[in-house]
Amino acid sequence: MSMREIRQSPTAQIVSPDMQEPELMLECRQLCKVYTQGPERVEVLRDLNLRVYAGERVAIVGASGSGKTTLLNLLGGLDLPSSGEVMIAGLNLASLNEAQRGRMRNRNLGFVYQFHHLLGEFSALENVSMPLLIAGNDVRRSAARAAAILERVGLGHRLEHKPSELSGGERQRVAIARALVTEPRCVLLDEPTGNLDRHTAREIHALMAELNTQLATSFVVVTHDEEFARSLDRVLLLRNGQLEELDAATRAAIAARGLTASLVEAPAQDGAHGE
Ligand SMILES: Nc1ncnc2c1ncn2[C@@H]1O[C@H](COP(=O)(O)OP(=O)(O)OP(=O)(O)O)[C@@H](O)[C@H]1O
Ligand SMILES: [Mg+2]
Repeated sequence: MSMREIRQSPTAQIVSPDMQEPELMLECRQLCKVYTQGPERVEVLRDLNLRVYAGERVAIVGASGSGKTTLLNLLGGLDLPSSGEVMIAGLNLASLNEAQRGRMRNRNLGFVYQFHHLLGEFSALENVSMPLLIAGNDVRRSAARAAAILERVGLGHRLEHKPSELSGGERQRVAIARALVTEPRCVLLDEPTGNLDRHTAREIHALMAELNTQLATSFVVVTHDEEFARSLDRVLLLRNGQLEELDAATRAAIAARGLTASLVEAPAQDGAHGE
């Protein structure tokens, strides 16, 4: 994308106005999350640091229970950290009240949950229209845009189906359409293509790549799909409550052995692994 296109596009601000530094889309500093259950303390995230720039695509990998969903929930302002800070597009989430956090999410973020969370009493079309209606768009325009993106994820023939009348993979695609329909600046996805066959997963990945190129959309994706993870700009491993950047050699090993095998075989390390 040329600098002129960047200046002309209201959404594709991959550089700050001085045209020097890439724009920081999302940042967390010294993030800690501890769950307490009775006398037990579960320390899931420990002094975790992360920076994602506008237009960057980041994969987060890690064993089950390592805290990937916990981290995404904190990045999206769906949950609050025990300590540390999350900044989205320069706004500190802790400085916002719940209504302001909701507006910030609607304006800047798309979210695909691990367990999709569609509204059961509404059709696919209504579910996908919802974020546009909340943002103040009129019903007809919202429905047209929702139908177009549902078409794009291969569900043009299922617009009037309710979630209970869709297959698992179809529901996941509705959730992906709902996250992308507002063309948010940053999309957080929790294993978005886990239930999809290879062909459908590739279609979704192509859609994400297209948005990334056209609108400089940032993506933070929790995934077990090694082929997809390798296609992104960075791969970060969540282990011992912290993120480690996987270097080229480790990524090559993943390519050779498979992501899951690498995660299982990788020795757990102590100490700080922040960025
Ligand atoms: N509300 C909660 N209360 C107590 N413990 C929790 C809570 N939510 C998550 N945990 C614990 O925190 C740890 C991290 O959970 P999380 O869901 O973030 O893992 P994950 O990496 O997303 O795993 P998966 O790959 O299985 O989805 C787990 O050990 C889980 O049991
Ligand atoms: Mg999870």
